[in-house]
Amino acid sequence: MAKFRKIGILASGGDAPGMNAAIRAVARKALYEGIEVVGIQGGYAGLINGDLRPLDNRSVSNIITLGGTILYSSRCPEFKTAEGMAKAIKTCEDNQIDAIVALGGDGTFRGATDLTNHGIPSIGIPCTIDNDITATEYTIGFDTAMNTVVGMVGALRETCESHARCNIIEVMGRDCGMIALYAGVAAGAVVIAIPEFEFDEEYAISKFREAREHGKRGMIGVFAEGMSLNNGGNKYSEEFVKKLEAETGIETKFARLGHIVRGGSPTLRDRLHATQFGAEAVSCLLEGKSNVVMAIKNGMITDIDINYALVLDRMYKGKLKDGDLDKYTAAQVEEMKAACAQRRLKMEKLYKLSFELGK
Ligand code: ADP
Ligand code: F6P
Repeated sequence: MAKFRKIGILASGGDAPGMNAAIRAVARKALYEGIEVVGIQGGYAGLINGDLRPLDNRSVSNIITLGGTILYSSRCPEFKTAEGMAKAIKTCEDNQIDAIVALGGDGTFRGATDLTNHGIPSIGIPCTIDNDITATEYTIGFDTAMNTVVGMVGALRETCESHARCNIIEVMGRDCGMIALYAGVAAGAVVIAIPEFEFDEEYAISKFREAREHGKRGMIGVFAEGMSLNNGGNKYSEEFVKKLEAETGIETKFARLGHIVRGGSPTLRDRLHATQFGAEAVSCLLEGKSNVVMAIKNGMITDIDINYALVLDRMYKGKLKDGDLDKYTAAQVEEMKAACAQRRLKMEKLYKLSFELGK
């Protein structure tokens, strides 16, 4: 069993509901194993500036219910520089921090790899509402975000029904359409638009028109923000509202849910997975593993090499770099391809279903 005196925990990048449950689990499991724990405040910036606070069992009491992160988060470009990394390593040395557990998305994991390469074993826990990390079926925050969207779409649906209006609702996810797709299906949207699949605008408009002709009063469209990001940052969803109104005469409102979807008390699923990921991350360190990211694969909690996870992610997003696949065997490359195909198929099936049922 590897020996650790003290481990650090940090949250980095966009926050996600459930991060606090993960912080609690990492801290309590480490303390249970006789390891000291220090919270690094404000992500990698806190590591650079030495913004630390010791965590004991009581400092993580009552946080399992809280959204956001008690350790605060940030995006820290300085961490990518040699000077920034040198300061971070010095903080670890000065404070006897032997290992780091980093909560965040793929950017955060790149930082964790750099730390490992500089002699500080690090482990990533996938926390992002976007659920856009290909190596894992689930990222902390996704369930809470979807439930928030479903609740808000439900409220908008009621007023749409009263006034016989349509509402186009844009939801976060960066360039991933998972939140829009899952929450859109669960909220009974007539139309869902996500960047992963070609969106047939005229077909979508005809769906709203036909639904109205068949007596539907309130109607909902859920659009992923990635539709706009894909469109050179243009406000795609708002443009669609104008077009829909012009072509059908259906009064249509627009709502961008924005950051509200990133807050709120985490759901059972987020608390549970965050707790399991957190405790397993400490176990991995004790087993001598580092540079891995916690993941759910075929419903089981597992750990995956961070570099493998990053390459798999680039493969899924069509962003492979020269040489990315060189250090993997043919069997591993096939395994990656199969994982990408399976993920896409899962989404495609649901996307098709949404069009069949949205009437
Ligand atoms: P996320 O982790 O949600 O993907 P970001 O992409 O903003 O969010 O990354 C979070 C932080 O991780 C960055 O602000 C930076 O400090 C660190 N980071 C991102 N990319 C790298 C990289 N290539 N090398 C080292 N650190 C990185
Ligand atoms: O990655 C999480 C996320 O909320 C995305 O859905 C969104 O595009 C982005 O972060 C917003 O980032 P910021 O909080 O910097 O505006």
